[in-house]
Amino acid sequence: MERLDKIISAAANISRSDARTFIKKGLVTVDGNTVRDIGGKFDTAMCSFTCGGRVVEYNKFVYIMMNKPKGVISASEGGSEPTVVDILPENMKRKNLFPAGRLDKDTTGFVLITDDGAFAHRILSPKNHIPKTYIAYLDKPFDDAVIKGFEQGVKLKDDVCMPAKLEPVNSDNTVAKVEIKQGMYHQIKRMFARYSLTVVDLKRIKMGGLFLDEKLKEGECRYITQKELLSVEKGK
Ligand code: URA
Repeated sequence: MERLDKIISAAANISRSDARTFIKKGLVTVDGNTVRDIGGKFDTAMCSFTCGGRVVEYNKFVYIMMNKPKGVISASEGGSEPTVVDILPENMKRKNLFPAGRLDKDTTGFVLITDDGAFAHRILSPKNHIPKTYIAYLDKPFDDAVIKGFEQGVKLKDDVCMPAKLEPVNSDNTVAKVEIKQGMYHQIKRMFARYSLTVVDLKRIKMGGLFLDEKLKEGECRYITQKELLSVEKGK
């Protein structure tokens, strides 16, 4: 059971205060009846809703693409530090949202925020081999030995990474595109560190087959469509 203002805000993609205004003006119906009680609770799986004469759907789960800025933690609770969930616009916030996978505090780019635990598990499990693609800016150029080493699986202190793809993005080999299939702690920074290279900036640009929307500025986000969602899992 959820509060009506929250349901309408999420289903119609409007702010909570706009949802309250619509409800108070008698412009919201539940199962065909006008309801003016903003705090009334309804079962979203059983009831149908309209807002301003339009049928609106409350989705069981939501999937959000964010372009994470630096300085924001990939978690749902960060103590005194802002999290990706804290910086969501008010009308996109709802219970149980969390980032499916972590980026370091100083990494930018694609974070997928959802409340669908089973989906998150599927895309994060190393068994499912969903690639994640990053652009890494390095302090020095990398050479063919690094490409080969990444291909063979870099040995870290207590682990061997799965094979990763490394391609140059610029002519002097200081910017690299890297594709990995795991999400180990500081994985890309540690992989380059094995070759005495320092990652000075890191951005995730793709999860599975879905690219970060170039229109999203850092800190901005949007809903992922159903078709896009399939491409996250397909892009193996
Ligand atoms: N690898 C890293 O080192 N950091 C990230 O944030 C993601 C992958």
